Amino acid sequence: MKPTIIPKNPCFSSGPCAKRPGWSLDLLKDAAVGRSHRAKTGKAKLAEVIERTKSILGLPADYRLGIVPASDTGAVEMALWSMLGERGVDVLAWESFSSGWASDCKSQLKLQDLRILKADYGELPDLNQTDWNRDVVFAWNGTTSGVKVPNGDWIAADRQGLAICDATSAVFAMDIPWPKLDVVTWSWQKVLGGEAGHGMIALSPRAVDRLQTYSPPRPLPKIFQMTKGGKLIEGIFSGETINTPSLLCVEDALDGLKWAESVGGLAGLIARSCANLSAMEEWVRSSPWAGFLASAFATRSNTSICLKVVDPAFSALRVDDQAKHLKTIVSTLEKAGAAYDIGAYRDAPPGLRIWGGATVETSDIRALLPWLDWAYGEVKAQF
Ligand SMILES: Cc1ncc(COP(=O)(O)O)c(C=O)c1O
Repeated sequence: MKPTIIPKNPCFSSGPCAKRPGWSLDLLKDAAVGRSHRAKTGKAKLAEVIERTKSILGLPADYRLGIVPASDTGAVEMALWSMLGERGVDVLAWESFSSGWASDCKSQLKLQDLRILKADYGELPDLNQTDWNRDVVFAWNGTTSGVKVPNGDWIAADRQGLAICDATSAVFAMDIPWPKLDVVTWSWQKVLGGEAGHGMIALSPRAVDRLQTYSPPRPLPKIFQMTKGGKLIEGIFSGETINTPSLLCVEDALDGLKWAESVGGLAGLIARSCANLSAMEEWVRSSPWAGFLASAFATRSNTSICLKVVDPAFSALRVDDQAKHLKTIVSTLEKAGAAYDIGAYRDAPPGLRIWGGATVETSDIRALLPWLDWAYGEVKAQF
């Protein structure tokens, strides 16, 4: 039976993610638009984003946090290009974004001493193979496979190398063991439902030391430069951005942070996201056709929840037919106004991906589930 109740907010995209409940454009009316970001008001707002973020996340007092250009990609690339090459590098690659960092290390940075530890979609590489005398580059949550690292126990506390972590779909939704990480990056457009284009980079004292003592053998574009004359540009970490940010997006980021505080801060955000995963798990347990792409419970993401079809009648189809049926499910649900943007990532195996970050209401996840069953039933009638 076609369900009759649609989710109040049908936005389940894995980025840009759903705006927080109650969001409206009116909330941005105090944005410092038309003003310089270097003027007192704009600079204060940028600094406020940094300070509120530090406080919600519980960043160690000696970590720097900056707002940087080009979203999470910009933040990751500036770390890789500025810091790598001083020693050997291990990169963990288990889905599209982490594989992208591995391929940049190999083909763009052309690192001589590079190991790429790979795993297929749904799995993690063997984390115990990492060598902490080397720098290690990895994603905390693989957004395109729905597989996360289970914790930071595998990261050596007395490491010599740097732990460089792309945590864009994890920060504000998962516990991040900050002292185990030296560079952590994310963007505004993920868990707090902010706007695209702006990245954040957190640096440990050891990461700052690397920046100040190592000169990479490659040119660095201005938007990657975090030092001048061998010294850290401290202004970047107090709101003096490298180039011009959008003050409309800054206002929106502040709204997201204030909302985060209102739902109980980090613990509240994590609980909201975990409740979304629990609702999906309860449904998957009794579903005859849906399963998780993540092979292990401990590595199952609570933000980018990736599903595969486990119905033997579906598995018997050719892969391009499977992809075609899944596209039909996605477009049918979009047309019905029940779910937007729930197709698997373009490089991932055929499946569905449903964002379960903190801005998504569990009542909306619950309202979506009967639609998934209905749409699957409709396509199954075709094969
Ligand atoms: C793990 C991961 N890394 C990097 C990116 C790229 O982020 P952005 O488009 O914000 O630069 C994404 C986007 O979804 C991601 O999930």
